[in-house]
Amino acid sequence: MARTTTQFVCSACGATYKKWAGHCEACGAWNSIHEEAALSAAGPAKKTLGAGRGKGMALSSLAESEAPLPRTVSGIGELDRVLGGGLVPASVVLVGGDPGIGKSTLLLQAAAAFANAGVKTIYVSGEEAAAQVRMRAQRLGLGAAPVSLAAETNLRDILTTLDAERPGFVIIDSIQTMWADHVESAPGSVSQVRAASHELTSFAKRRGISVVLVGHVTKDGQIAGPRVIEHMVDTVLYFEGERGHQYRILRAVKNRFGPADEIGVFEMTGAGLAEVLNPSELFLSERDRPASGSVVFAGIEGTRPLLVEIQALVAPSTLATPRRSTVGWDGGRLSMILAVLEARCGVGFGGLDVYLNVAGGMRVSEPAADLAVAAAILSARQDLPIPTDTVVFGEISLSGALRPVSQADQRLKEAAKLGFASAIAPSKMKVQAESGITVQRIDDLAGFVETVFGA
Ligand code: TYD
Ligand code: MG
Repeated sequence: MARTTTQFVCSACGATYKKWAGHCEACGAWNSIHEEAALSAAGPAKKTLGAGRGKGMALSSLAESEAPLPRTVSGIGELDRVLGGGLVPASVVLVGGDPGIGKSTLLLQAAAAFANAGVKTIYVSGEEAAAQVRMRAQRLGLGAAPVSLAAETNLRDILTTLDAERPGFVIIDSIQTMWADHVESAPGSVSQVRAASHELTSFAKRRGISVVLVGHVTKDGQIAGPRVIEHMVDTVLYFEGERGHQYRILRAVKNRFGPADEIGVFEMTGAGLAEVLNPSELFLSERDRPASGSVVFAGIEGTRPLLVEIQALVAPSTLATPRRSTVGWDGGRLSMILAVLEARCGVGFGGLDVYLNVAGGMRVSEPAADLAVAAAILSARQDLPIPTDTVVFGEISLSGALRPVSQADQRLKEAAKLGFASAIAPSKMKVQAESGITVQRIDDLAGFVETVFGA
């Protein structure tokens, strides 16, 4: 009889251990390791394979008919862009996000859009009854869309249905509710989520069906998070946003068929998610008069320029170790900029709390925002506003020098479009096109402190 072995698996990243531990060394999560039944080991590979299987073939020998079909466009522009220009046939997309952020809403709208575009679409819900999904569709004004609904969690039943129906597009909401009966652990465990994703992925490839898997980002260590299946799928999108804000950002973090880092911006309204066509306007919160600590950064997200407001507050600290707090920006990078300001420009932050916030619930990860962050902090510290018609960008190196950033032309053009008149940027930057913006070119951070703040 086969012996059932168990292993200990981290539900955040899927790392396996022989013994239980309170801390996952692979991803750093605490309390995320749980005991699970190990997948039964497959026997040794058979020596003889089916004739022709697994054989190499010349790239050029692939017949026209086997070449990928054109992408299917949903008509929801922000979604199509994040997918890299539409949905690729036989691809598997993972959409992750916090519970309640709007994943089901987005995918129901996508299902309706693809169905209306002529793709046979099935929406499989493991969380809501079919009637509840229908009610939501009606509320979104999509009641008439030709989407088939199925409320099911047993993977075998789902695959049988898909085999019979032969859809072109399937949504599995959510992968954590799916249950493969050949795996012993409970639904939501790492082994179940992996097994279900594996089955669905190979089914999608075999039958040429596009599949979207919804994955909740979990706080509770008992349920596996979407990270454990990121490596299996073609495209990984995360749906992000602050609870208090109505704006949602769909971000591609991995895409085998398009640029990663692409974003789509949506607004959650009473009638579902609406596309935001000019996100720069959105992220520049109400800025009419100059205020210290507020700087506009001309950034690039994916293939598109985006202006965002960076806000800083510097206040005397009552703590022995002053507070460094960031929202929408990496804390380590903030410490680095503060250290460079101190070491290269003589501007100290001892005894001062520093708060940094990116407006509108946006998250910026481009190093090109360094100079804007430094400008916001300096402006807050000196209580000197930066003119409201100025954008700032540039990467700061540890020596204090400013490094040029990519796509300067696009950044300047977007700023001009939104009525900005001047920019502060690295002097080595290459500008080809005339944007109508006066560019103030700066060599290093010390020069920046001197010209802008006269210190
Ligand atoms: P949902 O798509 O169910 O989230 P998820 O699948 O990611 O868990 O969205 C839930 C939230 O969205 C809920 O708090 C209500 C809000 N919402 C709206 O504001 N407008 C709408 O039209 C819909 C359908 C939902
Ligand atoms: Mg949902």
